[in-house]
Amino acid sequence: MASKRGALIVLEGVDRAGKTTQCKKLVQALQQVGRPAEMMRFPDRTTTIGQLISAYLEKKSDLEDHTVHLLFSANRWELVPSMKKKLEQGITLVVDRYAFSGAAFTSAKPGFCIDWCKKPDVGLPKPDLVMFLQLSPVEATLRGQFGNERYETSDFQKSVQQKFEQLMKDPSVNWKVIDASQSIEDVHDNIRTHTLNTINTAENTPLGELWK
Ligand code: TMP
Repeated sequence: MASKRGALIVLEGVDRAGKTTQCKKLVQALQQVGRPAEMMRFPDRTTTIGQLISAYLEKKSDLEDHTVHLLFSANRWELVPSMKKKLEQGITLVVDRYAFSGAAFTSAKPGFCIDWCKKPDVGLPKPDLVMFLQLSPVEATLRGQFGNERYETSDFQKSVQQKFEQLMKDPSVNWKVIDASQSIEDVHDNIRTHTLNTINTAENTPLGELWK
């Protein structure tokens, strides 16, 4: 019998919600209980497309807004063959940002509608679970200053948060909102429980296609 597939788990949220810390802790926790797991992040800045995106985020280059949106999407598509292979091998993928960040960040720019922003990502592997780390702007400010990358301003992050809220109304995606103001360990326990339940369900269901 073919081995059971891994689950595709995504963490989303505004900046400083603790996504990266939680992704790392989750992968460790899964491996400790004998569940093969690997972390990925988008943008993946290691590829040729990822390097263009990275230079843009670091404000070393300027790119037209539609163009950079399509590059973020292309950066996901270029990783799809390896993602599918790993999932088929039974590896659970824990992903730091995905197409939801793509749609939320670009549609927070003037002149972009969320439907247009979703289009290039239609048909990507559909996450079995998307956990949104919720943090109020006040709590986010208490966690310190923003960095120097593009998009790291509190006004822009507020618009992004509203766009995420719009995306979360879509019942075709398995969203779970996690209160990211709790301690790192409490957030982790919450995330781990949701993930272990999802891994068990995903084993017996085929991988879906996002927004289709
Ligand atoms: P990070 O590497 O610190 O997560 O930052 C990536 C930045 O890029 C962050 O501001 C969110 C933004 N972003 C997009 O605008 N579109 C996307 O598709 C993704 C994945 C991230």
